[in-house]
Amino acid sequence: MNDPKESKKDPLLLDHDADGIQELDNNLPRWWVWLFYLCILFSGVYLTYYHVLGKGDLQIAAYQREMTAGDAVKNAAQAQFEATLSSLAPSKNEALLARGGQVYMTYCSPCHRPDAGGLVGPNLCDDYWIHGSTYADNLKVIINGVPEKGMLTWKGVLTPYDIQAVASYIYTLRGTTPPNPKMREDLAPKVPTEVYE
Ligand code: HEC
Repeated sequence: MNDPKESKKDPLLLDHDADGIQELDNNLPRWWVWLFYLCILFSGVYLTYYHVLGKGDLQIAAYQREMTAGDAVKNAAQAQFEATLSSLAPSKNEALLARGGQVYMTYCSPCHRPDAGGLVGPNLCDDYWIHGSTYADNLKVIINGVPEKGMLTWKGVLTPYDIQAVASYIYTLRGTTPPNPKMREDLAPKVPTEVYE
C-alpha cells in the first residue's frame, strides 16, 4: 500500500471528510485560550460575589435601589416646585395682566365663560373653590389640570410667563358678579333619577 495521497497527509489532518471538506486540528490561538480561561475565572468570581457571598445587588435589587434614588430626586423637585409656587403672589403688572386677559379669552373662556361666570368649568369669581382658594392652588390646577374632570393641563402648552399672566388675571376677577353664574355642583338642584308610576 503506497497511496501517494496517504504519504503526503498532513499530520494535523483529521479523519473525517464531508464532501471533500476536511479539518486541520490546529492549536487554538493563545489569545483565544487565555480569553477562555479568563471567562472561566470571571464566572467563578461572579458566582461567588453575587450568589455565594451575596455582596452585590442582583438586577431586581439594583432596579429598586435606582428607583428609590429616582423617587428621592423627584420628591425633592416636587417639594421645591410647591415651595416656589407657594411663595408666588399674583402680579399687578399691567402688561402682564393684559397678556393674561388675552390668554384667558383665547384658551379659557370657552369653558369658563368670558366673564368667568362658569360654563363647563366652574365659576372663578365666587368664594367657592374645588381645589383650594390660594393663588398657588390656582396655579397648580392650571399647570397640572384636572384631566379626569375636563380641566386641561396647560403645562407645556402655555409658557410659565403666560401661566403666571392668566393666573394673575383671573385673580383680578375674584369678587366680580357676572350674571347667571354657574351654580356649585353641590348646591345645584338634583334631577330625580327614579321614576314613580
Ligand atoms: C375644556 C374646558 C376647560 C378649559 C379650556 C379650561 N378649563 Fe379650567 N376647569 C375646567 C373644569 C371642568 C374645571 C373643574 C375641575 C374639577 O371639577 O375638578 C376647571 C377648573 C379650573 C380651576 C380651579 C377652580 C376651582 O374651583 O378650584 C381654575 C383656576 C381653572 N380651571 C383655570 C383655567 C384657566 C386659567 C384656563 C385657561 C388657561 C382654563 N381653566 C381652561 C375646564 C376647563
